Amino acid sequence: MEDDIVLNPVNPHYLDRVVRVSETQGVEASEDIYSASGIKLVAKGARIGADMHDRLIVHKLKKPLESCIRVQNGTDSQRLHDDARALFEENSKLKALFDHSSVLSVVQEIPLRPATLGLLDVAAAQDRHGLKHYLLVMLISLAIARRMKCGAEIMRTVAMASLLHDIGELYIERRYLEDEDSELAESDWRKIAAHPVIGQKLACDVCGMPQAVGIAILEHHERASGGGYPRGLTAGQLSLPGQIISIAEMIAALSEHYDRPLERMALVVKLVPGEYGPELIAALSAGLELDMLGEETPVPVELTSMMLSTLFERIESVRHLINACQRTSGQDAGETRAMLDRVKRRFTHIQQALMSTGVGMYCSADGDCSVGLNQAPASLLYEVDAIQNEIRWQMRALSRDLQVRAALVSPAAALAFSELVEALDVQ
Ligand SMILES: [Fe+2]
Ligand SMILES: [Fe+2]
Repeated sequence: MEDDIVLNPVNPHYLDRVVRVSETQGVEASEDIYSASGIKLVAKGARIGADMHDRLIVHKLKKPLESCIRVQNGTDSQRLHDDARALFEENSKLKALFDHSSVLSVVQEIPLRPATLGLLDVAAAQDRHGLKHYLLVMLISLAIARRMKCGAEIMRTVAMASLLHDIGELYIERRYLEDEDSELAESDWRKIAAHPVIGQKLACDVCGMPQAVGIAILEHHERASGGGYPRGLTAGQLSLPGQIISIAEMIAALSEHYDRPLERMALVVKLVPGEYGPELIAALSAGLELDMLGEETPVPVELTSMMLSTLFERIESVRHLINACQRTSGQDAGETRAMLDRVKRRFTHIQQALMSTGVGMYCSADGDCSVGLNQAPASLLYEVDAIQNEIRWQMRALSRDLQVRAALVSPAAALAFSELVEALDVQ
């Protein structure tokens, strides 16, 4: 995906972030910084500000910059632990999952080089929530690993990898990450999709983490079904820590958007089986007593029925486009044909998932869902809303997968699939 990730010379997007942090918190050289040819570029203790930018970007450095800086008043092991504890104790949405405070002791064992803390400090300064996402994914991952009765070695790997899982985003231009809902061109999406690969490299080469940690970071957006990225690996090819962090990432995202993330998670798993390994699901469902019929946040019926109608319309147009592509590709035995078969298989799976929920019966033949849903109880509306959101997410993921793969085949393939990519990208 990003074939030539090098830590030297310095990545420009990482350097931009460092310079920005230096404007508010102050960043200094933790040691003398030399060019590869031995010229001293920055003295130990000097501030790394905008004035240093050009000097650092044009030279190849003797050591990666990531290992030579310190953020003033940055985090340390104790502060990370305290922040994780606060998040653990205050998070009422995930209380059922966070039932065992022993996961916090694993956090204290994470080996943190100054370079690792420096990366986390730069990451924290990018987000108004600081390291909350990193810590939340770590706590969820550890809680799942504890439920699966993982041994000490796996617990440690999960802790280290989940804490650093998105650190590769520091190498990606900020604007691609700032608006999750913006439409991304294929080349933009490829950049974002490289963050697990970059993260693996940073964790192993800069933070000195073991190989297993790098592998888990590499795998944190893969899916057991093969529908994830960057490599589209399937269940048997994925490490257990990688699979744990992948599902923890999904739960963290649900908890950032919804009041009842665990119920949503149960629904997602029911709706699209095979995305996560059965042992993970078993560990998560045991004892959580996920109740779909408790108190719901009210979901407006007009909006839900309108969203459902447009979703059905979009599904119909994707079906037509797939058929049209099949006709024009004819007996083409090349990669284009294989890709089309893959899209068709996954899209059929998505449609089957939607049909299996029975939401179709609330819509009339002309696609009007308002009458059927008007009489529905709040619990049903909540479920329909969650279902259509998940189906939209699945279609968008398929759109991105197709976009990236088609571009890798040829510009002609990218063009041939562009309409289908757009139709699948339902917001
Ligand atoms: Fe993440
Ligand atoms: Fe990520």
